[in-house]
Amino acid sequence: MSCKSLYDWVVVLILLNLTIENYYGAEGRNDKVASKEEDIELEKKLKILNKPPVKSIQTKLGDTYDCINIYKQPAFDHPLLRNHKIQMKPNVIQGQQIKKPISNMVFNVVRPKIDGCPSETVPIRRTTKEELVNTKHLSNWIKHRNFVLVLPSAEKVYYGGRAKISIANPRVDPDKFSTSQIWIQNGPVEEINSIEFGWAVHPQLFGDYNARIFGLWTADGFKETGCYNMLCPGFVQVHPEYSFGEQLVAGRYGGNQRAFDFSVHRDPESGNWWFINGKDNARIGYWPKEIFTHLSENASVIGYGGVAGADFGKLTPPMGYGYLPTINSAYTCCMTEMKVVDDRGRYLDFDTSKVHIDRNAKTSCYDLIFSRKYISLGIMMFFGGPGGDCL
Ligand SMILES: *[C@@H]1O[C@H](CO)[C@@H](O)[C@H](O)[C@H]1NC(C)=O
Repeated sequence: MSCKSLYDWVVVLILLNLTIENYYGAEGRNDKVASKEEDIELEKKLKILNKPPVKSIQTKLGDTYDCINIYKQPAFDHPLLRNHKIQMKPNVIQGQQIKKPISNMVFNVVRPKIDGCPSETVPIRRTTKEELVNTKHLSNWIKHRNFVLVLPSAEKVYYGGRAKISIANPRVDPDKFSTSQIWIQNGPVEEINSIEFGWAVHPQLFGDYNARIFGLWTADGFKETGCYNMLCPGFVQVHPEYSFGEQLVAGRYGGNQRAFDFSVHRDPESGNWWFINGKDNARIGYWPKEIFTHLSENASVIGYGGVAGADFGKLTPPMGYGYLPTINSAYTCCMTEMKVVDDRGRYLDFDTSKVHIDRNAKTSCYDLIFSRKYISLGIMMFFGGPGGDCL
């Protein structure tokens, strides 16, 4: 055991008391004491989220998905979506705009297909009671996370964003998480409307240590509304083979890199925020316009970067490959072909001379290098870091 990890353990032990106190504070403690009522409440929620499956399927990597009737998915339990007419595909076909990059980097993602759901059904990861309990804490954590991000600032409004994000597999402790993601936001902090998407290693959310596709939304600053993935009614899934929680195979540090093409754009006609895989233009689904307030028309902020989260007083986990960035994509998590979206749903390069770099952690913990445009890779950035004691 190295000095560093020994130190970690000592700190972990010292903080254990405090942490348990934090962790089981307020809501958590009720798990044990007032468990009856809570339990009934949880079971009720689970029943709403886990619709009776038409069929259950398993991927090659061992994940189980329920095939749910597309018209009976959890989204339609949202009070504002009772009369929502499902949009089967976006009006803007994004894939046609993407030219194949001439790149010497190996950028291909390996995704185990979620294969075999019957027509008119979509694969949805079954939610466990444990994940549901954990999400209560997640809403607290969302406010206590370290990040580095690039914020384009020349444009005044945005209608989405896209980037190819390389997939890494940072080592995180069971109660921490690490993401590479894009933010789309509007509104004052207290009422912030936010859509976040990318990949996350997030044991409390996914029950393991793999990089998986996630989405997160709120319409009120993470107070009452919103959740990760489909842990509450909101996101409408339409694709028969893609889903949140999907496992992405990471690249190898120093070796071949793998990337996933993440894209969200606002449909100019419906106003829904579509989540697609830009590479094969797979329309995964959308966050309906109705669930938002400040994001119903446009976004005022778009950001690209990494997040590393831990409970208060704890060391934060590695981000990306866990090393501070260099401009070598074999050794650094990076984003390429970073784009914003205009009011007609088209991808655009943003003005690289006017960007803010935002961070809330020491540069010895996490850092990023923002690059101007490369001919073959578009606008790009490199980011990551070892984490630790970052405040
Ligand atoms: C952007 O949305 C806001 C509402 O959040 C609206 O007031 C504003 O006019 C919109 N801007 C543009 C350029 O459409």
